[in-house]
Amino acid sequence: MASAMVFSISRVILVCFAFCLPLPLQGTPESPFHNPNAKTFSSSEDDLFYPLSPVVQMGKHNLMKFGIGTPPLETFAIPDTASNLVWLQCGCTNCYTQTSPTFDPKKSSTYESIKCSSDNCKNTAYSTNCNGLDPDCSYNLSFQDIGTSSRGHIAMETLTFQDGLNRKYPMFNMTFGCGQDNKDTFGFKVPGIMGLSNHSSSLIGQSSFIDFSYIFFSNASIGRSEVRIGFPPITGHLTTALAPNSKGLYIFKDVDGIYVEGEKVDIPESVFGYVEGESGGLIIDTGATFT
Ligand SMILES: *[C@@H]1O[C@H](CO)[C@@H](O)[C@H](O)[C@H]1NC(C)=O
Ligand SMILES: *[C@@H]1O[C@H](CO)[C@@H](O)[C@H](O)[C@H]1NC(C)=O
Ligand SMILES: *[C@@H]1O[C@H](CO)[C@@H](O)[C@H](O)[C@H]1NC(C)=O
Ligand SMILES: *[C@@H]1O[C@H](CO)[C@@H](O)[C@H](O)[C@H]1NC(C)=O
Repeated sequence: MASAMVFSISRVILVCFAFCLPLPLQGTPESPFHNPNAKTFSSSEDDLFYPLSPVVQMGKHNLMKFGIGTPPLETFAIPDTASNLVWLQCGCTNCYTQTSPTFDPKKSSTYESIKCSSDNCKNTAYSTNCNGLDPDCSYNLSFQDIGTSSRGHIAMETLTFQDGLNRKYPMFNMTFGCGQDNKDTFGFKVPGIMGLSNHSSSLIGQSSFIDFSYIFFSNASIGRSEVRIGFPPITGHLTTALAPNSKGLYIFKDVDGIYVEGEKVDIPESVFGYVEGESGGLIIDTGATFT
């Protein structure tokens, strides 16, 4: 990710890890995103062939909707810009209650297990060492802030998204955590978490795309919330630099503050200051329960 920008208009949050313009609103001059200097969004249908995930609200969560396996099972996950792994409840031995059907790898023809001795296992976030009789790659992770933990096997599956024209967009052999033993202390009932960090085992790190963007509306009648991967570049917006770092984090360097409806929130600018050497700066963590 070379550049990024953040701005918020009313209760619309739009973050682009590249240049971006939201698809549903781009055409109308009255839209807050209208940019008369931007070139037309798409000149060819091929430009709209990139993975996109509609975001639906479930309780207090914005959840990405996508399919897993073959045939694809429709499922949901929290889009998490600060998370390095994609994981879902799967092949359960000890799962919590979730609101949609749980993925059963036995019913999918594309599930591939990963050996614990493979490089893929070693390079995947939260994988544990080969230290038992289990030849398959295991992982174990816990999130303190949302009271969630997941344990299971690292495996590969087809994740099916849609594209800009509602066609299917399958991503084959995506490494993910098949969570067999999971806890959901606060009762969120969400099937899993979609890691969107810059780590090599997140959805973004595994894809061949170099940018992604998301837009969340608080009211679905204003526009459609979605996460887009490989969003085509559109010129004409302000950007702020990301600080390259080894943890996969998106650290925004030159943020001067947070604005709500044009008014700057009273937080000293120094709070956002970035110091070379990976300290300070602003991180936007879409998976956190607090700011
Ligand atoms: C998984 O991680 C938790 C918390 O870090 C730890 O308490 C637990 O023993 C681990 N389980 C295994 C099987 O490694
Ligand atoms: C996915 O991985 C399997 C096993 O490694 C391989 O046989 C298959 O060809 C791969 N599929 C694609 C679409 O790359
Ligand atoms: C969403 O927007 C519509 C149209 O502007 C409005 O009628 C409705 O009350 C809004 N809903 C909420 C929950 O704010
Ligand atoms: C993201 O990851 C790539 C590949 O590891 C790296 O070159 C790049 O600097 C990273 N970007 C940030 C902002 O850390």
